[in-house]
Amino acid sequence: MGPQARVVCSLFFLLQVLAEPTENSDFSLAGDYLLGGLFTLHANVKGIIHLHYLQVPKCKEYETKALGYTFMQAMHFAVQEINNHSSLLPGVRLGYEIVDVCYVSNNVQPVLFFLAGEDYLLPIQEDYSHYVPRVVAVIGPDSSESTTTVAHFLSLILLPQITYSAFSNKLRNKQNFPSLLRTVPGADHQIEAMIQLMLQFRWNWVIVLVSNDDYGRDHSHLLSERLAGRDICIAFQEALPTPQPNQEVTRQEHERLEAIVDKLQQSSARVVILFSPDLSLRNFFREVLRRNFSGVVWIASESWATDLVLHGLTELHRAGTFLGITTQSRPIPGFGEFRAHRAQAGPPTSNGTTCNQECDTCLDTPKSLNTMLRYSSQRGAYNVYAAVYAVAHALHSLLGCSQTGCPKEVVYPWQLLWEIKKVNFTLLGQRICFDQYGDLPIPLEVVQWQWDLSQNPFESIATYYPVQRQLEFIRNVSWHTPNGMAPVSTCSKDCQPGQRKKPVGIHLCCFECVDCLPGTFLNKTADEFDCQPCPSNEWSHSGDTSCFKRRLVFLQWHEASTIVVVMLAALGFLSTLTILVIFWRHFQTPMVRSAGGPMCFLMLVPLLVAYLMVPTYVGLPTVSTCLCRQTFFTLCFTICISCITVRSFQIVCAFKLASRLPRAYGYWVRYHGPYVFVAFMTVFKVAIVVGSLLTTTTSPTTRTDPENPEVMIPSCNANYLKGLLVNTSLDLLLSVAGFSFAYVGKELPTNYNEAKFITFCMTFYFISSVSLCTFMSVYEGVLVTILDLLVTVLNLLGIGLGYFGPKCYMILFFPERNTQAYFSSMIQGYTMGRD
Ligand SMILES: *[C@@H]1O[C@H](CO)[C@@H](O)[C@H](O)[C@H]1NC(C)=O
Ligand SMILES: *[C@@H]1O[C@H](CO)[C@@H](O)[C@H](O)[C@H]1NC(C)=O
Ligand SMILES: *[C@@H]1O[C@H](CO)[C@@H](O)[C@H](O)[C@H]1NC(C)=O
Ligand SMILES: *[C@@H]1O[C@H](CO)[C@@H](O)[C@H](O)[C@H]1NC(C)=O
Ligand SMILES: *[C@@H]1O[C@H](CO)[C@@H](O)[C@H](O)[C@H]1NC(C)=O
Ligand SMILES: *[C@@H]1O[C@H](CO)[C@@H](O)[C@H](O)[C@H]1NC(C)=O
Repeated sequence: MGPQARVVCSLFFLLQVLAEPTENSDFSLAGDYLLGGLFTLHANVKGIIHLHYLQVPKCKEYETKALGYTFMQAMHFAVQEINNHSSLLPGVRLGYEIVDVCYVSNNVQPVLFFLAGEDYLLPIQEDYSHYVPRVVAVIGPDSSESTTTVAHFLSLILLPQITYSAFSNKLRNKQNFPSLLRTVPGADHQIEAMIQLMLQFRWNWVIVLVSNDDYGRDHSHLLSERLAGRDICIAFQEALPTPQPNQEVTRQEHERLEAIVDKLQQSSARVVILFSPDLSLRNFFREVLRRNFSGVVWIASESWATDLVLHGLTELHRAGTFLGITTQSRPIPGFGEFRAHRAQAGPPTSNGTTCNQECDTCLDTPKSLNTMLRYSSQRGAYNVYAAVYAVAHALHSLLGCSQTGCPKEVVYPWQLLWEIKKVNFTLLGQRICFDQYGDLPIPLEVVQWQWDLSQNPFESIATYYPVQRQLEFIRNVSWHTPNGMAPVSTCSKDCQPGQRKKPVGIHLCCFECVDCLPGTFLNKTADEFDCQPCPSNEWSHSGDTSCFKRRLVFLQWHEASTIVVVMLAALGFLSTLTILVIFWRHFQTPMVRSAGGPMCFLMLVPLLVAYLMVPTYVGLPTVSTCLCRQTFFTLCFTICISCITVRSFQIVCAFKLASRLPRAYGYWVRYHGPYVFVAFMTVFKVAIVVGSLLTTTTSPTTRTDPENPEVMIPSCNANYLKGLLVNTSLDLLLSVAGFSFAYVGKELPTNYNEAKFITFCMTFYFISSVSLCTFMSVYEGVLVTILDLLVTVLNLLGIGLGYFGPKCYMILFFPERNTQAYFSSMIQGYTMGRD
């Protein structure tokens, strides 16, 4: 282009004709309806927009970008196909104007060209609803940044714009970009695919490197947002320096890159996610290679996932495993041959009507690159192809085409936009139907970079389905690691089962492993950082993942202690029975009568019953055995004790009360005082027992053993000590009373010396019961039941043998003393001794 052309191209409103539109050039094609196409055939580093000179940037001065050329061919192909196959738009010819935007440098000029009319004038109007611009829709551009710039212009007249590779999530905002649609899913899907990839290989400690621009910042922000609440942490994040336009490495840039590679080398993370345009990465990877840094998994964002120039860096395969997220590869039938044919036809012709419609170096790419192009081309091309078809389908319904023809009406952009948003058709097996954000949820792919020339350089290993948000693996990754296994990238090694994570530092992924304490367990699905306590009837050992039921410990028949106690009880029962028989046989003798006569049987029978109750202490407590223990047993005991008490009272009465308070003694004898007293005590005890039953429960409960948490002790009362106190308090009082009376009467005649034995029984009972209660107030373990039973049986024995034993001895071995005469002499002797 000469200086004249530069001037022309610099005009913002008026765009002059350079040449008449030529038929079927690579950049423009005449037609009834024109599509605008924006592709990156050349690329330079961002921020080098030539605003210092009043001229349109000259794209061809920059480096060729082969992928952009393929995308452009996809548009040609789609338009040709639609024009050839008359069923979609019969009788209507689509044309195009394609301009090279050279990445982000040349956005505005092509937009003005598209917006202007046939006469190159862009009129200033209040209402553009009946304005017809040069093109009916714009396909592209590729990067999110230039898409944003272009979209701001096109929104003014609601000119439909369909981009084929801009992923940014900002473009979802239909308030800002009402006329923008895209044939790719949004960036959040790309990031979701990355996260699922990391989850798949259990990488939770990753490094994020971003370009120092909006692209890097937006994506890393989105990634952090998405990672919140997941078990993946970012070890650190660094911004890569922006390279010089000529890719020369300055000293500053070099230092910065060195520092970043140092940091990478020091980190334990083996996964690096890189959000950056391809151009910012070359120097970085050169530095990585210079430092022989390897063994890392590089995860590429869509911007460089299929970049052939980076792929072609010498020895790059040494740097580790490269995985990338990119659009799905969906082969377009005939496109391969079409492109090959175009390539043979020579470089794209440059007879365009505006600036940057030329690419004389597009086919100058090295041979190896061409081979790769053959494999990789289809990726992304489908997105362009689908965009053109979406416009064609919308035109079809807007014009109201029939099978044979279409009325060639004037198409206003806003009408077409409306129709494009509604399209719903299937293209090569893929449903094309934009969602509410104007996105097309077509699948993404995870590719692995390969350097074997016979293979596709970007081999698909997994497909990500945006609708289901699911990653499905197609092929195993071949890891570039010494052992061929997936690298491990975690901050801390996973804990053993039953160990909780104790956070170290701010990252959830960095932790120490601590065994759960006994009595707690770790439920990994619920919480990995806290052990949960076991239910009350269960227990766990240190580091358990679940609890076990605590062992029930109760008296069992086969245990030695049980056998001893039961033998004692049996002995006691037999001896009591013997005593009963002896007393029965000698009922009329003075010895028996002095011992209480009929009252002896009132004592012996409950004793027998009490012995019979001993087996209820053995075995698992049930409602009935608890009832026996808590009511009958203790009732028998109370009757017995109250009998003894009343006996000891009577001894004192007989000798002291009778002489001092004869009238009271008269009443006592006349109204059967002893029996009334025993009956009263029994009723009182019944009241206590019933009251205690009503306030607590009779059904057995279990207690824990503080000494041994693995066992549970089934018990009749939740609180053993309290139950014991309630049951024995009255008996204790009675025993104290009995003891006192007996003590007072201790110097009575030797035949009446039962007072000595009563003192002995009561003392024994009192001491043993108090000791038992004291012991239980400090001890709650398994021994409680057996001790309780043992003490009770000993008390029974003490009462039975202590009170009745000496009398039986006298009855059996000294029958001469068991006479009325002997008794009388003894009483006389006592009375005389006192006087
Ligand atoms: C369209 O038709 C022309 C001529 O018939 C042919 O050369 C061209 O290859 C066709 N293009 C496509 C994409 O079918
Ligand atoms: C990298 O490796 C090559 C050969 O293996 C060696 O010559 C070079 O010095 C190494 N560079 C560094 C920075 O270690
Ligand atoms: C492009 O224009 C040049 C002159 O400007 C002409 O010689 C050439 O034939 C044209 N090419 C095509 C394909 O029209
Ligand atoms: C698109 O068409 C298919 C089949 O005709 C239908 O199942 C689907 O619901 C349509 N989608 C929308 C968004 O209308
Ligand atoms: C991946 O490798 C494993 C064995 O390492 C094999 O069982 C599995 O089938 C492979 N998967 C695919 C998709 O090739
Ligand atoms: C662990 O927690 C999950 C979720 O809260 C629950 O569904 C599961 O039953 C728990 N497992 C155990 C053994 O408690």
